[in-house]
This record gives sequence, C-alpha cells and structure tokens, in this order.
Amino acid sequence: MFRNVLCLVLGLIVGMQLTELWDYLMLTGDEYESTAIAVDTAAPTPLAEATLADRLYHETRVLCLVLTMPTQHKTKAAKVMSTWGARCNKLIFLSSQDDVELGAVNLNVTESRDNLYAKVRAGLAYAYEHYVEDYDWFLKADDDTYVVMENLRLFLYPYDPEAAVFFGHRFRTTYPHGYMSGGAGYVLSRDALRRLNLFALNNTKFCPLNTNAEDRQIGHCLLNVGVVAGDSRDELGRERFLPLHPRHLMPRIQSGTWLDKYYYFKPNLSDCCSDSGISFHYTKMYDYDMYEFFLYHLRIFGLPKTPSVLPQRLDYKQMEEKLQYWDQQISDNTAPIDD
Ligand SMILES: *[C@@H]1O[C@H](CO)[C@@H](O)[C@H](O)[C@H]1NC(C)=O
Ligand SMILES: *[C@@H]1O[C@H](CO)[C@@H](O)[C@H](O)[C@H]1NC(C)=O
Ligand SMILES: *[C@@H]1O[C@H](CO)[C@@H](O)[C@H](O)[C@H]1NC(C)=O
Repeated sequence: MFRNVLCLVLGLIVGMQLTELWDYLMLTGDEYESTAIAVDTAAPTPLAEATLADRLYHETRVLCLVLTMPTQHKTKAAKVMSTWGARCNKLIFLSSQDDVELGAVNLNVTESRDNLYAKVRAGLAYAYEHYVEDYDWFLKADDDTYVVMENLRLFLYPYDPEAAVFFGHRFRTTYPHGYMSGGAGYVLSRDALRRLNLFALNNTKFCPLNTNAEDRQIGHCLLNVGVVAGDSRDELGRERFLPLHPRHLMPRIQSGTWLDKYYYFKPNLSDCCSDSGISFHYTKMYDYDMYEFFLYHLRIFGLPKTPSVLPQRLDYKQMEEKLQYWDQQISDNTAPIDD
C-alpha cells in the first residue's frame, strides 16, 4: 500500500517536470521567432544530446553553399550530398549547370580557375536574393570540404546572426584582418550576407571584381563593409575549421608546409585540433564514407557519454563586446607574405 502511494507521488512529480520541460522548450522556440536573439535566463536543463542536436537544427539554421562544377556533380558533389550535406538545413551547389537531382544552380559563370571568385559572388547573391530571411547562417564550402554540421551549429549557437560577423580558418594576407580559408569553409551571419549584397557586391571600391582567390577577395569585401572576422578557436586555442587533410595534422601539424606562411593564429604543433572541430579540407573520394563511419557510426564501448547543455546565448551587449574584441585581435604571424 505504502509502496503504491510512493509510486503515485513519484509519477506525479516526474510528470510535472516533463510538462515544465515541454513548456520550456515551446517557450524558447517562440521567443526565438519574435526577437533577433533569445537569451536563456532559466537554468540550463540537461537533455540528451540527440534532443539538443535536434533543437539546434531548428534554432541555428544553416544554408550550405557548396562550390562545385559539372564534372564533379556525380563524384565529389554527390558524396557531399549523401554525407554531411544532408545535415544542412538547405544544400545548394554552386555550379555552371543546373542539376535538379543534386540541387545545383547554374550561375551563368564560365568554368575556369580564374572565375571562382565570380562564381562565389554569384552564389552569395543568389542565396541573398532567395533565402536571406529563411536561414541564420550561410556556409560557403568546397566540394572537397567535410563539415561536421552538429558542431558547426553548436559553435554558432551563442552568437546573434544579426551581428555582422564571419567565421572560418583565418589566414593572413596583405591587409591586417586577414580572411577565412575557402577550403576549410567559412560561414557568414545573416547580416554579413546582407551587407555583402547591399553595399559590397555593387561597389567596385569596396569589392572589386577580379581574378584573385575567392576566399581572399570575399574576405576583403566583407571587411570593407564592417563585417568582423570572428575567432572560431576553442578555449585552448585549437582550430575548429581545418584547412588541411587530417593526415597532415596528426599526430603533429607538419611544419614546412604552406600553412606556415598563411596561419593567422600560431597553432600548437602538437595539439592542433579542437575536440569540437567543424571542418577538414582536401577530402578524397574514399574519405567521405570513412569519416561518416568513424564520426557517426563507430561506438566505443565504455566511453562515457554524458548529457550536455547548450552554451548561453550572448545578449546584445555581450555580442557587441565580442565583436570589438575580435576586431582588435592581431596576428602573431608577422612574416611577410608574397601572394
Ligand atoms: C542564368 O541564365 C538563365 C538564362 O538567361 C536564367 O534563366 C537563369 O535565371 C540564370 N541563373 C541565375 C542564377 O541567375
Ligand atoms: C548599392 O546598393 C545600395 C542599396 O540598394 C545603394 O544604397 C548603394 O548606393 C549602391 N552602391 C552603388 C555604388 O551603386
Ligand atoms: C601544446 O599542446 C600540448 C599538448 O596538449 C600542451 O602540453 C602544451 O602546453 C601546448 N602548448 C602551448 C603553447 O599551448
């Protein structure tokens, strides 16, 4: 008898907590719709990671723009679509030929290495015209980039997409703030995409059309319209966006590569890569499925897997302070660069 009463009471308590949890989830969802950024004031509620990843999918919406070309539609682009690209909120391939099955758009730019910048410009204009209000962040990647979308969303979650910022693996160049590696992938906030389209792409002073490298040029255009180059390294200074293949990073970053000349923040050679890493470059055809297997399927027996909480979102003032801080970060790589 006593045991039955105890069970009843326990059941009621659990039920009430679940109801509260449900209300909490509904509430934060609504708030996010109506304001630029909702700041969680309630104590973080531990939830299963799968539930959090699902929530992130809806709250940190990413449109992926993957640079490819017709000869790669059935090879690398198809691999992107069947692996990480499927986890984007929307996936669009920037190409010179329409491909409905793939979701490739013909941007009417002649295929050539010299035209990659023109193609990315056209792609970012296309994304702006059709989708700027539908997504929060706009990722530009190559067809040999591999992106862990869940970690990208987790990294972006605290930041307001209405702040003018972009993230990626930062390279140094002749202008002080540098730019983000195109191969590691870079991600623009909604406001960065808006500024690029409203004030840069139509202005030859801020954003000249030429045949230079797309990442360097887009970076320059963004900086010229007040978009801040954000810092995406983790709390130990390890990079999350990686411009190399893992075999050149582990167990040590190989020194004497082109990276020595380009890195903006000095890497720790023996501890290169963040545990919450986001991207790799130079993905080979056989790598896509291998990464999928190791990242999404293989389970290690006995490895603790604890429920986690989402980080706090920054409010307007905190975001402003972050932008100012990032804007003043200067490279510790002072060697001259000759590109
Ligand atoms: C490319 O050109 C065709 C024909 O003029 C046009 O229908 C299409 O909308 C253009 N594509 C883009 C992305 O502008
Ligand atoms: C670019 O477009 C914006 C918004 O329509 C306009 O205010 C600005 O004057 C244009 N710039 C140039 C150089 O045409
Ligand atoms: C580099 O990483 C190693 C291994 O994690 C660590 O022991 C060392 O303190 C790091 N060095 C710097 C300068 O952070």
